[in-house]
Amino acid sequence: MKRAKISIIGAGNVGATCAHWAAAKELGDIVLLDIVEGLPQGKALDLMESSPIEGFDSRIVGTNNYDDTAGSDVIIITSGLPRKPGMSRDDLLTANAKIVKAVTEQAAPRSPHAVLIVVSNPLDAMVYLAWKVSGFAPNKVIGQAGVLDTARFRAFVAMALNVSVEDVNALLLGGHGDDMVPLPRHTSVGGIPLPDLLPQDQIDKIIDRARKGGGEIVALLKTGSAFYAPSAATIQMAESILRDKKRVLPCAVYCDKEYGVGGYFVGVPCVLGTGGVEKILEVKLNDQERAAFDTSASHVRELVDILKKQGFVS
Ligand code: NAI
Ligand code: 2OP
Repeated sequence: MKRAKISIIGAGNVGATCAHWAAAKELGDIVLLDIVEGLPQGKALDLMESSPIEGFDSRIVGTNNYDDTAGSDVIIITSGLPRKPGMSRDDLLTANAKIVKAVTEQAAPRSPHAVLIVVSNPLDAMVYLAWKVSGFAPNKVIGQAGVLDTARFRAFVAMALNVSVEDVNALLLGGHGDDMVPLPRHTSVGGIPLPDLLPQDQIDKIIDRARKGGGEIVALLKTGSAFYAPSAATIQMAESILRDKKRVLPCAVYCDKEYGVGGYFVGVPCVLGTGGVEKILEVKLNDQERAAFDTSASHVRELVDILKKQGFVS
């Protein structure tokens, strides 16, 4: 059987850790590319040398040459600046737009059948940019945010109730910003709705912490942003695509009529399989949830409008 090929553009914290999780799961052969010479080669070789110990058979190659990414099944874009303490994801817009545009122009034509997973921030605007630059069908371009944000929410619920994270299911919508929309009434613990298990003030505190989860890590690290959970989230998406698992995951996907978004990438639950986004699942929202979702979606539109004004997209 032909092995899948995964190219990761950006061999920094998120990119290299994506390679680590993907190799550990034997998802396929991995190409790690970066603009810095030696960095992807060194990290790839180091990971490759861990394979006899861990017992995985993925081949991992580091490179600065896009020709090595040709024919990929999945391309993951993790190149770009991470935020520093005090910065919002939006402060990265122009600097990362230049990087995401440049790398997509190089990577997409060499792998015309790939599914593109974008991680660089500000996420919902960067995935829109990558979609436009790649010329790929909208269902082949997906942003990673919701899996991470939901994982944070689930972890905090499990910590509050002292239960296994495996038994906490949650749903979260909207953009990857502090106005993301966790849905407590669609969160359950062993099938029991969360509002039956925790008082509202505790749920509100958990929601607030999940919304600001990225900033909490930035404030602690001081020199960069989170990467273990973000890369695990990205590889869960890649696994669902490459193994055609059809997982239902919250991802930043192209929504036109769906949720009334009107042609932008926003976080909603979808089915991920070989074809990329195979289906968007529409959840009935109450008035409060609808208002919060609309606020989050209009924030995404504002960022894309800035990209349009700056000439990155038409
Ligand atoms: P990092 O600084 O550790 O790595 C970024 C890498 O991109 C560096 O190795 C750099 O050399 C490379 N790079 C820069 N310009 C490039 C170019 N033109 N071509 C190829 N490589 C290039 O940063 P980290 O922590 O890995 O984060 C990467 C991005 O992912 C950031 O924008 C960050 O905000 C974002 N992020 C998004 C998350 C999400 O949930 N969507 C979660 C975590 C990070
Ligand atoms: C996060 O939420 C930095 O967006 C990244 O951790």
